[in-house]
Amino acid sequence: MYIETMDAAIECENLTKTYPGKPPVEAVRGISLHIKRGECFGILGPNGAGKTTALELMEGLLIPTSGTVKVLGKTWQKDSTWLREKTGISLQETKLSEELTVLETIRLFASFYQDSADPKDIIAQVSLESKSLSLIGKLSGGQKQRVALACALVGRPELLFLDEPTTGLDPQSRRQVWEMIQKFQAKGGTILITTHYMDEAEKLCGALAIVDQGKIIAQGSPGELLKDFGGQTRIEVDFLEPGPDPQWISPHSEITHMSEVSPNRFLLQTTSLIDSLPKVLAAATLTGKTIQTIRTHQPTLEDVFVGLTGRNLRDEVTGS
Ligand SMILES: Nc1ncnc2c1ncn2[C@@H]1O[C@H](COP(=O)(O)OP(=O)(O)OP(=O)(O)O)[C@@H](O)[C@H]1O
Ligand SMILES: [Mg+2]
Repeated sequence: MYIETMDAAIECENLTKTYPGKPPVEAVRGISLHIKRGECFGILGPNGAGKTTALELMEGLLIPTSGTVKVLGKTWQKDSTWLREKTGISLQETKLSEELTVLETIRLFASFYQDSADPKDIIAQVSLESKSLSLIGKLSGGQKQRVALACALVGRPELLFLDEPTTGLDPQSRRQVWEMIQKFQAKGGTILITTHYMDEAEKLCGALAIVDQGKIIAQGSPGELLKDFGGQTRIEVDFLEPGPDPQWISPHSEITHMSEVSPNRFLLQTTSLIDSLPKVLAAATLTGKTIQTIRTHQPTLEDVFVGLTGRNLRDEVTGS
């Protein structure tokens, strides 16, 4: 029988981590997560929220102050050798030896695993064939990051931990990394990723946890989070000349709010952009005034975060 935990790639309960010091830093303050096998799970949060600390607790690189972590049904205390074989890690910042070539670096990492992939195949996957014989010290920041990713992949992991894998990459390289992640997932792999990029989270992740000040403040699929916490879609209508009747659009069930920002600018909120937009356009035309612009804004994960915390995702956590 397939028991419940067989489905879980990662299970953690009430995980906490306090870094000693004066004062001590409570970086992770009670995180519980259930990450399914085959899922790409994202952790989002501002700088200092505790994402890297949480990840390193799950990667077996840090020992929790309290709470439990199970990875692929095992614990780091009992089964670390087995777990190292099954997991791949790309740290937020990787210091690789500058004096080795790309190929030597990947071969070195391959040697740590009993069942590793062909280093040349992995180098091709991260599109670094032309840099295979270049020294790490001579690579650009983005290229180094792709080497780090290759190091995480070369042991044929079942579970990948990626801490901000695309930060600093150009748009094309970011898309290449996304493709690699998607291919890895398509072959049955599980990914736990942190990112600051909302488009990345929406594109890759089936489930997300939003972390703030060491705690999960919301969890769900991107669609669920947007629906529950993103607020409504806004439509902003600008007329060229002021003066349409402030009640120019009659009430519709999906238009929940309408306000006059200035005599020629109106803001509407709607639960359905598709239904509202033709009605707004028709009503605005009937005013006889010239429409200058109609702008729409659909909620993003950034709005979810602002809605939940009153702060921007890029704001630093203060205090701890
Ligand atoms: N080794 C350490 N010793 C003491 N405090 C630490 C240590 N590492 C991290 N912290 C603190 O723990 C908190 C969480 O840090 P962490 O690196 O986990 O955040 P993060 O969410 O990954 O941030 P970022 O988005 O900037 O990578 C921060 O307040 C940080 O200053
Ligand atoms: Mg971090």
